[in-house]
Order: sequence, then C-alpha cells, then structure tokens
Amino acid sequence: MTIKKCHNIGHIRTLAQKKLPAPMFHYIDGGADDEVTLHRNTTAFERFDLMPRMLVDVTAINTRTKVLETTLEWPVFLAPTGMSRLFHHGKELAAARAAAKAGTLYTLSTLATTSLEDVAKETTGAKMFQIYILKDRGLTSEFVQRCKAAGYKALCLTVDMPLAGNRERDHLTGMTMPPRFGLGSLMSFALHPEWSLNFLRNPDFKLANVAHRVDALAGGAMPLIAYANSQFDRSVTWKDVAWLAKQWDGPFVVKGILSPEDAKLAREAGATAVMISNHGGRQLDSVPAPIDCVAPIRDAVGTGLELIVDGGIRRGTHVIKALALGADACSIGRGYLYGLAAAGEAGVTRALTLLRTEIERDMALLGCADIASISRAHVIP
Ligand code: FNR
Ligand code: LAC
Repeated sequence: MTIKKCHNIGHIRTLAQKKLPAPMFHYIDGGADDEVTLHRNTTAFERFDLMPRMLVDVTAINTRTKVLETTLEWPVFLAPTGMSRLFHHGKELAAARAAAKAGTLYTLSTLATTSLEDVAKETTGAKMFQIYILKDRGLTSEFVQRCKAAGYKALCLTVDMPLAGNRERDHLTGMTMPPRFGLGSLMSFALHPEWSLNFLRNPDFKLANVAHRVDALAGGAMPLIAYANSQFDRSVTWKDVAWLAKQWDGPFVVKGILSPEDAKLAREAGATAVMISNHGGRQLDSVPAPIDCVAPIRDAVGTGLELIVDGGIRRGTHVIKALALGADACSIGRGYLYGLAAAGEAGVTRALTLLRTEIERDMALLGCADIASISRAHVIP
C-alpha cells in the first residue's frame, strides 16, 4: 500500500502501522488504562445523526473560518503532539509545512523534537505554541517571550496533565524516548528497515525546547515519562492560568476542558478559547467523549468563548457534527500523525486533503454552503 492508495484516515493508520516499529506505532495509537475513552471519542459521534436540507444552492462551498484571530481555510487544525521525530525524520517541520500548505494552523508541543524558533524560521503559516505551567516557572515565562519573539499567533495551555496517564501499551512495547533497541523491540525494528535506517542516520532525538534547561536531559537519554513526572506541577490552579494569560496577552486557549463549569472558569481566567479535549483518551480513562461535551458547554457559556473540539475526529462528518453542536473549529492529533508516520510531509498532506475533501462534500450534501450556516438544526442527538 502507498499513501496515494489511502482513501481515508483509517487506511493511513494501516500504512503507519506497516511503517513504524511497534513502540512508535502504539505510542501514537494507544490510550490510558482500558482505552474506554479512546474508543468512545470516535464512536460517540455515531450517536448523533445529521439532518440534511435539500434544494439549497451549494455550487460554491466556502469552508473558511476564523478562530484565535487566525483565518483558517477550513475548520480543522493540527493539535500539539510531542516528539514527532519518533514517527518520521521529517519531524515537526514536515507537519508544520503540510499545515501551512493546507491553509491551517499548526500547534507545536512543548515536548517537540524541533525548537519553536526553528519551526517559525523554516515554515510559513500560522502557528500556536502549546505550553505547560511547569515546576520551572522561569521556563514557562521564557516560552512566552520566545513565542512572542518568534511570531506565534496563539498560546495553548494544556491543563489535563498534572502527571502522565497510564499508557499500558508503552510498557508492553518497551517504548522509550529516545528509542532503544531493547531485546523485546529488536524484532520490530528489524521488520521496519526504512524507519530503522533513518533512526541510525539521523539520531536527532531531543526535546529541543527544553533540553537547555533540564540538566537530566543533557545526556539526551531520559525517558519521557520520567521527564514529564519531574516537570509537571500538580499544584497548578486557576490563579496560575490567569498569571499566564496576562503574560501572554493574546489569543489564549485552555486545552483539556470537559465540564461547563471549567469552561466558565477558563474564560474568567482570561482564555479566549477552550479546547474541549480529553487528550485523545491518553490521560484519565472513562471521561466523556469531547463531542458529548460540546452542547452543554456552548449552552453554559453562550457566545464570546471560542470552542475547539479535539478527540476522535477521523471523518468530515465528525467535524460537521461538532460545528453543528456549537464548536468553532476542531483539531486532530492522530489523524495527521498517522500520515506523518506513513509518508512524512506527503502523508500529512494526504490526511489533511482527504479530511478537507470529505468536509466539502458533506457540506454540499447537508445543504450548507458555508460554515456559518451549519447549525443545531442539522444535528439530531
Ligand atoms: C498527544 N497530545 C498532546 N497534547 C498536548 O497538549 N501536548 C502534547 O505534547 C501531546 N502529545 C501527544 C502525542 C501523541 C502521540 C498523541 C496521539 C497525542 C494530545 C493531542 O493534542 C490531542 O488532544 C489528541 O491527539 C486528540 O485526539 P485524536 O485526534 O488523536 O483522537
Ligand atoms: C502524550 C504527551 C506527550 O500524550 O502529551 O503522549
């Protein structure tokens, strides 16, 4: 199978699995505990039906929209994901370039393998930086300054990770960052020669944004989970969010909100948007699917707070359901990471093109010529 033969995100996932050694594939694909939430994130979309309207002029479909003071050519952007080097030697640059070509926003993770300056320098297109309030508050403040200097449009604070979730697939596969040829994984590396050759040729596995501040990382061999647990600050509360929002003073997203109460608190703390997200089912298991939280949050906050839905999105119809229920835009993680793993930048481009084409086709079939006309009347719970 080649990337051209992939006709939906599921096909791209299959190709990614062929290309990646098991530890890398399951790090993308897996979730926490029994993966109840991971699966529900996608299946929950099936509980909503779309109600199309006929005989609307859909000659010209306009998918353009605006969130975070940024124009998106279509209402889906790239969620922050750590350590892209694990999946392809094109790293974050490949994903950011594909996002720019697709006319949408790229979010760079704090835990990226390319520095925020390099992503800004090497790629065009709007960018957001995903930040944590770390134990090292100096590093958090430093990120704000660096993002301003590098021209990032928005800041996205992830709040659902006071510590790393329990991803049991990673224990089983022996996933480490940087990857190691352990006894258990040796076979899997041997079976994926293309990835393994690039691993040997470009062993540039580092957490490029933080390496200079974290002594333990100087050797480059600290497992991610150990790093995460050493830096994540369990004492962070809403007053810290307000502190950060004030420092940034621009489009500011709080990522990882599921309850209407927290959405309101985020707005009070200075957020201009919330990302309704459960971290792709990778943190607390058995929390609700984001799509089920959209209408309750929209009803609670009214207008004036942008809502981004993130989790389980694999189809154009998923995006349309989210918008119909009150979201302003959606973001995807695995959807583009499978593409990155399958074929680098071309793979991300393929994933984004397929999803965008589905959205355009679905809008025409639904009887909506533009994003603003997608309404609650188009969805039945
Ligand atoms: C993530 N996610 C994530 N979120 C974040 O705030 N910072 C991060 O560094 C990462 N890293 C990360 C790595 C990988 C491999 C995955 C799959 C996810 C979560 C991500 O931003 C997003 O919330 C989910 O991926 C959305 O769910 P879907 O689209 O993957 O189903
Ligand atoms: C994850 C971290 C990097 O979900 O956010 O793997």
